[in-house]
Amino acid sequence: MQYYIDPQFANLVPGKIPDNWYSRAMFRSPEACQVWLARVSEDHAPERFPDLLLAYKELLAQIEPVRTFVSFGPGGSSLDLKLIEKLKNPLNINYIPIDIAPSLLHHTCNLIRKQYQVPLCIEGDFEGGMNFISSVLKSQTQTPTIYSILGNALGNADIGDHHLINSLCDLIPSHQLLFLSIATGRFKNQHMQNPKQLAFWNSVRDLITCGIAMISGETPLKVVESIDNRLILQMGLSEVPGSSCMQFFDTITNKLVFSTKRYDYKMFINWVEESYPLILIDSRNVVFPGSDVGVGCYLFKKQI
Ligand SMILES: C[S@@+](CC[C@H](N)C(=O)[O-])C[C@H]1O[C@@H](n2cnc3c(N)ncnc32)[C@H](O)[C@@H]1O
Repeated sequence: MQYYIDPQFANLVPGKIPDNWYSRAMFRSPEACQVWLARVSEDHAPERFPDLLLAYKELLAQIEPVRTFVSFGPGGSSLDLKLIEKLKNPLNINYIPIDIAPSLLHHTCNLIRKQYQVPLCIEGDFEGGMNFISSVLKSQTQTPTIYSILGNALGNADIGDHHLINSLCDLIPSHQLLFLSIATGRFKNQHMQNPKQLAFWNSVRDLITCGIAMISGETPLKVVESIDNRLILQMGLSEVPGSSCMQFFDTITNKLVFSTKRYDYKMFINWVEESYPLILIDSRNVVFPGSDVGVGCYLFKKQI
């Protein structure tokens, strides 16, 4: 297996993170990856969401066999493992993970390689480093290909929705597939006043602690002492009609440290189809029981 690293990562150390990295600083933090693997992936284990798995499965059942599965931000990759199984020819597929977090990437490669082919993996930044990713993928990707970006990775993007979808469109060749999932619903004012009501609050608080440590150069243990006093929340802006954005600011470094979005399921489709050369093949909105939030899953095809 070949391991490619974006050269821009060479000088990245805590306290010396590019100015426009917020959520990316958090994902890059080794401690945040441990938190993610230990807790978040447990809370979010795919088996805990059978309706969501079914929705993914129904969408994937509609596609012809693919030769390559490119995964942008596989996280702990337990979801990807389940999705590869659902494809028609899993043993003939080349799986290529791309992640900014080295330990998540190693974890993914080790897990998926036990059963499937992983010819290469890319430690890269799908926001600021798409040229590097594209140069590696160009020579290594056999079509048909499915490109996935799941688990609301779009909603955490530092540089915004338009930038990310636009660069995905530039990278994806004509007639290939984009498989995308995002958080649906809306953040409300009450969440701003009392973020502890959010189901993901405890996990996200720990992750943000690690992200602040990456940005400021403090240790996560030092940051955790003051986290509840230094963090403030506010509604951010979003380019996608009907979506809402929650931003977390650190008052000590005076920096945005994390942002996350929720989208309107249908308005998202309209926005994508009107703005990009992507046509929807099919989609599902899986709403969590007793709530008005869920996961929107979309299968798009790149035109021309
Ligand atoms: C919200 S998690 C989603 C994980 C997984 N896809 C799921 O559905 O459970 C986002 C993933 O994308 C990675 N990531 C975030 N920003 C990135 C970037 N700019 N470039 C590459 N990977 C990134 C994170 O390290 C993490 O693995």
